[in-house]
Formats: sequence, structure tokens, C-alpha cells
Amino acid sequence: MKTLKTIAEFRAARAAFPQMGVVPTMGFLHEGHLSLVRRAKAECGAAAVTIFVNPTQFAPHEDFGRYPRALARDLELVEAAGADLVFAPDVSEVYPEGYDVKVEIGGVTDRLEGEVRPVHFVGVATVVAKLFNITQPTRAYFGQKDAQQCVVIEKLVRDLNFPCQIVVCPTVREADGLAMSSRNAYLDETQRQNAPVLYRALKAAEARYAAGARNAEALRAAMHTVLAEVPNAGVDYVSVADPVTLEELDQVANGALISLAVRFGATRLIDNIRL
Ligand code: PAJ
Repeated sequence: MKTLKTIAEFRAARAAFPQMGVVPTMGFLHEGHLSLVRRAKAECGAAAVTIFVNPTQFAPHEDFGRYPRALARDLELVEAAGADLVFAPDVSEVYPEGYDVKVEIGGVTDRLEGEVRPVHFVGVATVVAKLFNITQPTRAYFGQKDAQQCVVIEKLVRDLNFPCQIVVCPTVREADGLAMSSRNAYLDETQRQNAPVLYRALKAAEARYAAGARNAEALRAAMHTVLAEVPNAGVDYVSVADPVTLEELDQVANGALISLAVRFGATRLIDNIRL
């Protein structure tokens, strides 16, 4: 495995591979990330992982400065998962002095995460467009865990004609249902014990749907009831939305995206399931 820090070095190394599965990450890797790397390697014959904590997708008050970093450990993990190349640039390599372009995607970025984090998806779309131009993926792998991000990236690829296929992979969970996330490292013991309430709330909505409920408001109410069982869970939103437009639904049908965002202290967790 080769680890490259500059765009020029990465491009030179990339040229040796006819096909490449690319996995963009911000590092502090866990089994969720590694599942994407293994799938990229299996489907494309070669895998590249990008590790870059992207400053432009964090608002000034968010956790860019304290976002967890562990590059040496990450490199061991991705090598064991089968990666051929790692692109781990410094911020100045990606955003050199004078850099002044933004990729703004309409509509689907206004809702859910975009409503609570207004600059977030401009930063995500901008960095992913740059990473795609640098890494030239045959296919790029993203996690269902960040469902809205997948919708945004699919729109980016379609609307700007990137010659790459987006593959959305299932959410990897801890044994108690908590979706794996680099941000789980912020949780103290009590918060960690309470955090599986997100998945329990999603499962409660799913159970209502399976029992015949078709009114979206009944599903949202079921989620709120479960979330209220845990003290100090600050609910940013619970949502029952169309999986393509992300508009809130009145009537639920197969494929609907059930999602939520909950704060434990300063830590914000998101999760979702598709019906
Ligand atoms: P990051 O949060 O590091 O996630 C990298 C990729 O791993 C994303 O596609 C995310 O959805 C996926 N992922 C995270 N947790 C997962 C889990 N439990 N199961 C399955 N997949 C999981 O998402 C980002 O970084 C950034 O926004 C990025 C796209 C790299 C742009 O900076």
C-alpha cells in the first residue's frame, strides 16, 4: 500500500490501475469505513482511501478542531482491509492560498441535516468533487449511515457529469444497535449507554409501519415516545421523508427514509433506516 500526501504523487500512483474503487473518509476509521474499503477492493480490484478532515464542511462552532485523528492506526487498518492507495493530504494541498470555488447543490441540501448545518453540504460537495477529480474513481463507496450525504453525492455526480458510479453500502452497527461513527468516541459512559435509543426509535417507527400504520405523523410520534425514555437526549429532528426529494411525507410507503438527529451534550448523532 502506498500513502501519498500530494495530488501529483497520488495521480502518478493512480495511473498504474485501470479501475479504482474510492472510499472518501475523514479518518479515525471503524468497521463501517472498512466495510466500504473491502467492498471497493472486491468490486474494482483496487481500492483507494482518502483520509482528510475537511474544514469547509464544519461551521465555525462545530468540532473541526477536536475531530478525532489517528493516521498511523488508520493506515494499518486500511492496509489490512485491502487498500492499494491512500491519499492523506494537508489542508493547504486541498485548499491552497486563493482557493475560491464552491459546489452548491439545491433543494435536497436545505432539509434535515442542511437545515441544522447550513454550510455543511457545500463543504461536502466541494471536497468530494475535488477528491473525485484527483482520484478518478471507477466507483465510489458511501455509507447509508449518512443517507442525505448519499442523496447529495448522487446529485453531484448526475448534475456535473462525473464518470463514476456511486455505491451506497449498509450501515454497520455495534451489537446494541448504535450505528458506528467516529463521533461515538466523544460519548461518556452514560451517553454511550443511552445512545442506542436512536436505533430503538427507528425500529419503533418501522414496527408501526409493519403493523399497518401509514400516517407519517404516527411514525414520528412513535419515535418521539421512545426518545423521551432517555433523559438529556436533545432531539434536533425526527423525519419521515421521500428518499429522493427528502420532503416530509404525510402518507408513508415502501422505501421511505426514516431519520433522526439527537444531541447528547455537545455530541450530535444521526441515524436512519429505509422502510
Ligand atoms: P466520514 O464520516 O469519515 O465517513 C466516511 C464514509 O463512511 C461515509 O460514506 C460514511 O457514510 C461511511 N460510514 C460512516 N459510518 C458508517 C457506518 N456505521 N456504516 C457504514 N458506513 C459508514 O462522510 C464523511 O466522512 C465526509 O463527509 C466525506 C464524504 C469524506 C467528505 O469529507
